[in-house]
Amino acid sequence: MKIAVSGKGGLGKTFIAGSLAAYYARHGHPVIAIDTDPSPNLAMTLGLSVEEAARIVPIAEDEHLIKLKTGTEFPGVFRLTFSVDDIIEKYSSPTPAGPALMVMGTVRSMGAGCTCPANSLVKALLRHLVVERDEVVILDMEAGIEHLGRGTAEHVDLLLVIADANRKSLEISATICRLAANSAIKKVFLVGNRIADSRQETAVRTFAETHGIVILAMIPFDPLVADTGMTGNPLDEATSPALQAIGSLAETILAMSPI
Ligand SMILES: Nc1ncnc2c1ncn2[C@@H]1O[C@H](COP(=O)(O)OP(=O)(O)OP(=O)(O)O)[C@@H](O)[C@H]1O
Ligand SMILES: [Mg+2]
Repeated sequence: MKIAVSGKGGLGKTFIAGSLAAYYARHGHPVIAIDTDPSPNLAMTLGLSVEEAARIVPIAEDEHLIKLKTGTEFPGVFRLTFSVDDIIEKYSSPTPAGPALMVMGTVRSMGAGCTCPANSLVKALLRHLVVERDEVVILDMEAGIEHLGRGTAEHVDLLLVIADANRKSLEISATICRLAANSAIKKVFLVGNRIADSRQETAVRTFAETHGIVILAMIPFDPLVADTGMTGNPLDEATSPALQAIGSLAETILAMSPI
């Protein structure tokens, strides 16, 4: 099962992607969590320390790997076909929460048909992860899905677009849903996050209904989430309403797209 998580910045993509990945790993599934965000902090959500996270070299910045895969004996000439299946074993990091983590690094310009070696490598790797791997693969994406590229997007089972009750985040989520519908991703859903009260829930539901968007879950605002960001202590599903809601979301997804 392949799940991409997108939405306006700062609304909980990384928290939700990481918590979903951890949930499936806890329930016995092999999981690869992929950070494609230029501000990578999925590592911390999966329980790595700041120091451990800082030691991970993003694929797009790993000069040695890029040269190894795309270099030729002629300067300025790059190989366009290369194997990537060996990269996952060597370049993913185990995490305390269970999933293997891969940090891609900045892939901003990939939608524009950029063929520079770093982007070619990341693109090929994303394609391999989404199209050919058997693990549960969860992608924490920058707002927007353009760098998935053709040949990859249609193999994503599910795109979750994260929004809160703020008008602007809802408008952005509607735009992402529209783009996704044109990109061959089969199932696109809205997930409300940081929902503090029934007024906010109604605002999200009304917006979704008006725009013909299906909501898959409402994750409550949970002060424990902010607290864990501050202290670094892991969240406990027994006490965190947000984690419990993400657990239900994980089960809903499983029911729709069995692994
Ligand atoms: N349900 C929630 N309740 C309370 N706080 C939350 C909740 N979800 C996320 N947060 C907090 O909101 C902030 C943003 O979350 P997160 O980093 O996951 O967002 P993001 O969309 O990945 O951001 P970016 O676009 O910067 O990558 C974090 O401080 C996180 O702890
Ligand atoms: Mg993030």
